[in-house]
Amino acid sequence: MVARYSRIAGTGSHLPPRRLSNDDMTAMLAQRGVETSDAWIVERTGIRARHFADDGVMCSDLALPAAQAALAAAGRRADEIDLIVVATSTPDMVFPSTACILQAKLGIAGCAAFDVQAVCSGFVYALTVADAMIRAGSARCALVVGSEVFSRLLDFNDRTTCVLFGDGAGAVVLEASDEPGLLASSLHADGRHVGVLCTPGTVSGGKVSGDPLLKMDGQAVFKLAVGVLESAAREVLAKAGRTEADLDWLVPHQANIRIMLGTAKKLKLSPDKLVATVAEHGNTSAASVPLALDHAVRAGQIKRGDTLLLEGVGGGFTWGAVLLDY
Ligand code: ACO
Repeated sequence: MVARYSRIAGTGSHLPPRRLSNDDMTAMLAQRGVETSDAWIVERTGIRARHFADDGVMCSDLALPAAQAALAAAGRRADEIDLIVVATSTPDMVFPSTACILQAKLGIAGCAAFDVQAVCSGFVYALTVADAMIRAGSARCALVVGSEVFSRLLDFNDRTTCVLFGDGAGAVVLEASDEPGLLASSLHADGRHVGVLCTPGTVSGGKVSGDPLLKMDGQAVFKLAVGVLESAAREVLAKAGRTEADLDWLVPHQANIRIMLGTAKKLKLSPDKLVATVAEHGNTSAASVPLALDHAVRAGQIKRGDTLLLEGVGGGFTWGAVLLDY
C-alpha cells in the first residue's frame, strides 16, 4: 500500500572526538603566520569550536555511528532499511557512492543506495527525495544521512574560510506513515552563482586538476542566504496551508548565527524557537541540519507533535526547506 506521508522515526548524529576551540585554531594558524582570534570568530559567526576527523577517517566512518544511533532511536534493525540516501560533498571516493560504502558497513545488501550532492542544502534535498520515493511506493523505511569531512577541503592559509567549517554526521530514519509527517518541501538552485562558493578541482589524467581547496565569497553568500531562506520558508508554509505562528522550531543550516537569527527575525520567530548548535561544531555542510535536529531531540527541546521547519542553503547556489510534523 502506498503511504500518504513519510515521517521521521528516529534521529542520530556523530562528531569526531578531536575538538578544536577557537583558541586551538588561533594557535594552529599562528604557526603558519595566519592571524585570527576567538573574539573575531565568535563575533562574526557565533562559532566557538569545530571537530576534525583524524587522518584516514572517511565520510562513511562518521556516517556509520550517526546511522546506527538513528536506527536505535527508531527501533529498527539495519536489515529493515530499503533505501539509503547520503548527502555529502566530501565522499570517500569519486565512486562508488558513500551510500554504498555505508550500506556495506551496516552489514546489509540489496536496497537502493545513492548520494545526493547539493553542498550545504544536501540534507534537505536528500530528505525531499526520500519522502518522494516513500510516497511513490518505492521505499518504506529510508535511512537519510548528511555526512562531511569538510576539513579535507580547507585552505589553512585562508583565515576567511578555514575557521568556519568542521566535520560531522547526522541521520534520520524516514518511514512510510498514514499520519504526517513531512508536509511540504521546496528545492531550488541557481547555477549562475557557482563561483561564490566552490571547490574547483577535479580528478583528471591520474592527478588533481585545478584547485582542490574551498573558495568562498563570504559576503556574497551571506546576502544570497538571508533572502532565499526567508522565501523558501514562506513557500513551504503556503504549500502546507500553515503560517509562521504554527512553527515550534526552526532548524536551519548551521553556518553563521547572524544568518540564522536574521532568518528567524524575518519570520517573526522568537530566538527561543531557533535550534542553534553552530557554536559547538561550526559549518558541517550537509551534516549540519541533521546534527542540529538530533541534538535538539536528544536535549528534549523538540518533542513528538512539534512542527519543524528545516532549511538548507549553500554551494551551487542551492537552497531549500522542509516543513514537517515531528
Ligand atoms: N580572523 C580575523 N580576521 C578575519 C578573519 C579571521 N578568521 N577572516 C576575515 N577577517 C578580516 C578580513 O580580512 C577583513 O579585514 P579588513 O577589514 O582589514 O579587510 C575583516 O575581517 C572583515 O571581513 P569580512 O569578510 O567583511 O567579514 P564578514 O563580517 O563579512 O564575515 C563571514 C565573514 C563570517 C565569512 C561572513 O561573510 C559569512 O558568514 N558569510 C556566509 C558564509 C556562509 O553562510 N556559508 C554557508 C554556505 S557554506 C556551504 O555551502 C559549503
